[in-house]
Amino acid sequence: MPIRILPPEVASRIAAGEVVERPASVVKELLENAIDAGARDIQIEVEEGGLRLIRVSDDGCGIPAGEVELAFARHATSKLSDVEDLNRIVTLGFRGEALASIAAVSRVEMSTRSADEEVGTQLSLEAGEIVRRRPVGRPPGTSITVENLFFNVPARRKFLRSPLTEAGHIQEIVTYYAMAYPARRISLTHNGRPIFRSPGTGNLLDVLLEIHGPETAGALLPIQTTAEEPSPVMVSGYVSPPALHRADRRYMVFFVNGRWVRDKALAYAVLQAYHTLLPANRFPITVVQIHLDPAEVDVNVHPTKTEVRFRAAGEVFRAVQRQVRAALVQQAPAAPQFHVPGWGERPSPSAEIVARQQMLMSAGRSAVEHALRLIPPAEEPAPESAGTPPSRLPILRVVGQVRQMYIIAEGPDGLYLIDQHAAHERVLYEQMLSQATAGVPLSQALLEPQVVPVDLRQQDVIRTYDEELRWAGFELEPFGEGAFLLRAVPAVLAGRQDPRTALYEVLEELERGETPLARRKDAAVMAAVCKRGAVKAGQTLSHEEMTELVRRLEATSSPQTCPHGRPTMIHLSAEALARQFLRS
Ligand SMILES: Nc1ncnc2c1ncn2[C@@H]1O[C@H](COP(=O)(O)OP(=O)(O)OP(=O)(O)O)[C@@H](O)[C@H]1O
Ligand SMILES: [Mg+2]
Repeated sequence: MPIRILPPEVASRIAAGEVVERPASVVKELLENAIDAGARDIQIEVEEGGLRLIRVSDDGCGIPAGEVELAFARHATSKLSDVEDLNRIVTLGFRGEALASIAAVSRVEMSTRSADEEVGTQLSLEAGEIVRRRPVGRPPGTSITVENLFFNVPARRKFLRSPLTEAGHIQEIVTYYAMAYPARRISLTHNGRPIFRSPGTGNLLDVLLEIHGPETAGALLPIQTTAEEPSPVMVSGYVSPPALHRADRRYMVFFVNGRWVRDKALAYAVLQAYHTLLPANRFPITVVQIHLDPAEVDVNVHPTKTEVRFRAAGEVFRAVQRQVRAALVQQAPAAPQFHVPGWGERPSPSAEIVARQQMLMSAGRSAVEHALRLIPPAEEPAPESAGTPPSRLPILRVVGQVRQMYIIAEGPDGLYLIDQHAAHERVLYEQMLSQATAGVPLSQALLEPQVVPVDLRQQDVIRTYDEELRWAGFELEPFGEGAFLLRAVPAVLAGRQDPRTALYEVLEELERGETPLARRKDAAVMAAVCKRGAVKAGQTLSHEEMTELVRRLEATSSPQTCPHGRPTMIHLSAEALARQFLRS
């Protein structure tokens, strides 16, 4: 179909609004255009998080010389012709809006050639105005370069994050589309360095392997509507087994007819399928592809085209949920038995670790200096409530455990309900502090170093917290593009959790800045580490373990709050109990 301007009655029915919010939106639109053009090979080059330059080159159908200008007009598209088409959209683009919106806020150069033309065309625009047109020799396909994004919209530029963060958003979008279109070869470079490349084999698992590494990708469970269960809603993809989870919903991705969408209801449907299988506030890794009749889904809902409305939403959610649940029930191995190491266990540092720790310490600030700055400040706010316990704990007698979450203890002045996880976090935090002060290494070497693939956001966090992560005991070495070699972990984590998972989780927490009390980076890292090292809610503790935990909590300097500032306990005084029972 040639490009033409949509008649006003069609144009007016298209969800209007801001199309280009940030560099990643530009990449998304250009990538969608390349996919719609049937490209097999799509190269994306980005400089300075896309603010300096974004170039998307494809080997798709190209644009005939006579239509090149038109492509930049508003509501000009080759993908729709009448109002009816809006009800069954089969292409990623349909508004004829993207190129016009991008050109309006940047300098654009397009060079394109359709397969049946001898010569290509190059068109340059500035702030939406055409400034030059000339013929070029080039292979069939299209290449669009977007420079100095938002150069004429300073207000928008001001709201952007650092180039690395913007590059992280771009990487995310690129990996989404690589998952949705495994048969296309899609590559991304940032400042000339290769960041991502999908192999274009047509196999989604090959793409997941590039994104998550062999271990995670290998653990994922396939989901697939089979031929025996014919359904108007076809579901396929991969989901993580219950033991594999993340602190972030970012790894739950959904595609509807090849379009990446954000959909809370779909995410909810999947989480329900995992019901009771995941720890609280943890999310699975899922890639769910949904295919259904285009007439059954409205994509003309939001200007960024990332939201959809299903005509029979319930049916879609049920189909997704059924497949996910089936995969989990049939294929997931039994949950591993959790081992709670004795509370008193302390790994004894080998000479090698001590030497390494000393080397690390001499490289950065000394551990003692760190530790002293980290001693919990006296003004650490205690939670305001009638049940606030005294800042020093009396000797407590453990009575029992409730809901595998709280320890009940009795003191001379009443009853204490102790959150086992928060309490252990506090204990570990002060243990790390005192070890650092005493010069005991915080780090424990791994028997075998592990390769840890990291995306740009994770690299950003590692860079930002480099010194603090080392200090807390993580030893990381750059290992080629997009990976680190993990040689050692904080000793409080040793033996408690897969070291790589622990590192990922710490990075996630740091990225989300979850530690309001940690005004300093080192405190944030330590709190995140202690959270990983602490016993979880849901673990049954023996009487001895509870007693040991309470003893150690009594010995801390701020027993009433965890390092994240949440209360570790609730105190019910003898008088309060008497009042409740109308005894006084
Ligand atoms: N990489 C490309 N290869 C071939 N044709 C392209 C390419 N990019 C854009 N076009 C042509 O230019 C037209 C306008 O592109 P634009 O992205 O502005 O609108 P759209 O894709 O039709 O709709 P939307 O605004 O929803 O993306 C397209 O309809 C298509 O015909
Ligand atoms: Mg488009």
